[in-house]
Amino acid sequence: MPKTPSRHRLLLSALLVAPIPLAANSSDHETDMVELGRALFNDVNLSAEGLHSCATCHPTTMGLEGHTTNNTYIGLDIVEDGAEGGRSTPTLWGAYHRTQWGWAGLPTIEQNIRGIIVNRMRGPEPSEEQLAALTAFIMSLPLPETPFVDEEGTPVADAPEDVQRGFELFYEAGCNSCHMQPGMESTAVYDVAGVEVKVPSLWAVQHTGPWFHDGRYDALEDAVRTMWVYQADRIGEPSTPTDEQLADLVAYLEAL
Ligand code: HEC
Ligand code: HEC
Repeated sequence: MPKTPSRHRLLLSALLVAPIPLAANSSDHETDMVELGRALFNDVNLSAEGLHSCATCHPTTMGLEGHTTNNTYIGLDIVEDGAEGGRSTPTLWGAYHRTQWGWAGLPTIEQNIRGIIVNRMRGPEPSEEQLAALTAFIMSLPLPETPFVDEEGTPVADAPEDVQRGFELFYEAGCNSCHMQPGMESTAVYDVAGVEVKVPSLWAVQHTGPWFHDGRYDALEDAVRTMWVYQADRIGEPSTPTDEQLADLVAYLEAL
């Protein structure tokens, strides 16, 4: 569907004045919801000043919609990475894998989106239909191709050796106890770096820097080192990774 303003307005006004008509079959209905969600996602009327849409911060990048500007925000303002209270912007690619929403780990995506519209964008209270359409759109967003791992995140037979070694280490170091296949996340929160946040998914993680909830790490390697040390302490066997171990883990994560 071309994202022309007129089509966009048409969809939006239809949404505001009338309940969404049930399509003849459910897959038509699903497609309509995704298209409606896409229009809303690009709609600046969801923000108080009419200047920001969801796509302002989750733009189309590399041909896929709903990625991240890789900025750290407080409200609508870009702040320095690592700033107190700042939150780094997750990609929405592969969101269908996730079980918790926002760094705080809300149980439903609808709750999360409502909070973003009302609190971050200071926009009007969204309707149930708007939330459902935005959800349908976000759940339709694909992940980039991952030639070296299968759909569960396990390396394929001809994956490079560092990716294979990294995967083994991912288990040996206990990363999988929180970042569980196939979503590479889990339904828990931990205080790793000063605030209790959810276990984020590691799919497409190479594209989501700066890393950690406040964007404090510019290098994926630094996030991995912190996680290693945290987990080693947690199980009572303090250690730091070697450069080789770090490189292998990063190679595996970059394959996701
Ligand atoms: C000003 C930038 C900005 C705008 C505008 C914005 N977001 Fe976000 N989005 C963020 C940031 C930053 C986070 C992480 C915030 C947090 O968890 O505290 C986030 C998190 C999310 C998440 C949670 C993803 C996950 O994996 O946990 C969803 C879903 C989402 N946004 C959807 C939307 C939708 C839908 C809109 C439009 C209604 C929108 N965002 C508008 C910056 C933005
Ligand atoms: C006890 C649970 C737990 C274990 C074990 C764990 N992680 Fe994490 N991981 C988290 C949490 C929670 C965060 C978010 C931390 C933050 O942002 O403050 C995180 C964040 C990350 C991030 C940054 C993601 C992003 O989008 O910013 C990476 C990369 C990562 N972990 C990799 C690993 C690796 C590799 C291991 C094994 C060495 C590992 N984790 C072990 C819970 C865990």
